[in-house]
Amino acid sequence: MSADPVFHAEALRSYVRSLILALKLPRSTADTMAESLVAANVRGVDSHGLQLLPFYIAQLEDGRVNGLETGAAVSESGAVMVYDGRNGLGQIVSEKCTDHAVRLAREHGLGCVVARESNHFGAAAWWAQRMSRQGVIGIVMCTASSTVAPWQGKDPRWGTNPICCSAPGRDGGGWLLDMATTTVAMGKIYRANILGNEEIPAGWAMDSEGLPTTSTQEALRGMLMPLGGYKGSGLALMVEMLCGVLSAGALSTELGGLRVKDRPFRVCQFFLAIDVSRFLPMEEFEERLRKLTGMAKSSSPAAGFDEVLVAGEPEWRTEAVRLREGVPVAAPLWNTLREIGSRLGVVAPEPVSGLP
Ligand SMILES: NC(=O)c1ccc[n+]([C@@H]2O[C@H](COP(=O)([O-])OP(=O)(O)OC[C@H]3O[C@@H](n4cnc5c(N)ncnc54)[C@H](O)[C@@H]3O)[C@@H](O)[C@H]2O)c1
Repeated sequence: MSADPVFHAEALRSYVRSLILALKLPRSTADTMAESLVAANVRGVDSHGLQLLPFYIAQLEDGRVNGLETGAAVSESGAVMVYDGRNGLGQIVSEKCTDHAVRLAREHGLGCVVARESNHFGAAAWWAQRMSRQGVIGIVMCTASSTVAPWQGKDPRWGTNPICCSAPGRDGGGWLLDMATTTVAMGKIYRANILGNEEIPAGWAMDSEGLPTTSTQEALRGMLMPLGGYKGSGLALMVEMLCGVLSAGALSTELGGLRVKDRPFRVCQFFLAIDVSRFLPMEEFEERLRKLTGMAKSSSPAAGFDEVLVAGEPEWRTEAVRLREGVPVAAPLWNTLREIGSRLGVVAPEPVSGLP
């Protein structure tokens, strides 16, 4: 049995950069794609790292996404901006929107940018962290292709619509919650499929009739399970409202998808920056946040657990290990990426361990 190949993060970034450059896109775009995608792998969020690249490359090559487009502001009023992504890469649109949100927060205390006609931006955490690294609380949400039925329904009406909040502090994120409004993100079901796992854990998905299933294939044909039943369903609709309704962009089934070839994706995104220093000095904020997370962690662990964690900790721990020991890439995914590389004339890096 061959082990998954393991790479230094920089080798992966360099490979992604070269693949994007081979598509004749600007160096700045290649850098953004490489940094944001590999960051997800480094944090252990493998469902939103390199796994997305084959889909992004297919979208770019088919002309379903305009890799040269950076989008433009439609309006700016006080602390609020509406942005038209004009079908550019989600990462490039998000880079612009987060920077506008931070600028507006510096000017007004809060900055809120909503984007329409954007595309998949990967893990929400990267964009919320981009804001929290600049000393503001970053809140990010986005819409996604219809894979989730409203509670008590069986027809998909919205996506896994993630909600992310990153607070400034240690390593640019004193607390970092990044979660789909479904039990898990869709990428985890695709990952189970890539790895050839026939079964997924109970509670992740429903079949096409709306019945709970643990079959990976039934889940792929069916729908994801809303987080906590009707409450997750309500949160997903809130995300649709803040992203899609506010931006006057696509709603619900009007969205396409990463794998949908006959129409644009039309993702909507929401970026809120909160300037902490308007409320209290940053040092005091960090100290109070540390106190709060410390209070959470001071709880005695429940039976079966060694400790209490707060959001962000599992990924920071993985990040520390992967920066030290390297980043594993699932062998089937690596084969796909190498095939793309040889087609585009880009030489894949050698792993530091595991079989290539
Ligand atoms: N772009 C898109 O369309 C899209 C859509 C959905 C999800 N996503 C991304 O998918 C990724 C994965 O989402 P997910 O919901 O499967 O994440 P997850 O369930 O793995 O983690 C969700 C959150 O829970 C925290 N957490 C995990 N274990 C914990 C514990 N034991 N104690 C305390 N906190 C804990 C994590 O730190 C994280 O903040 C995210 O990066 C999200 O942005 C993207």
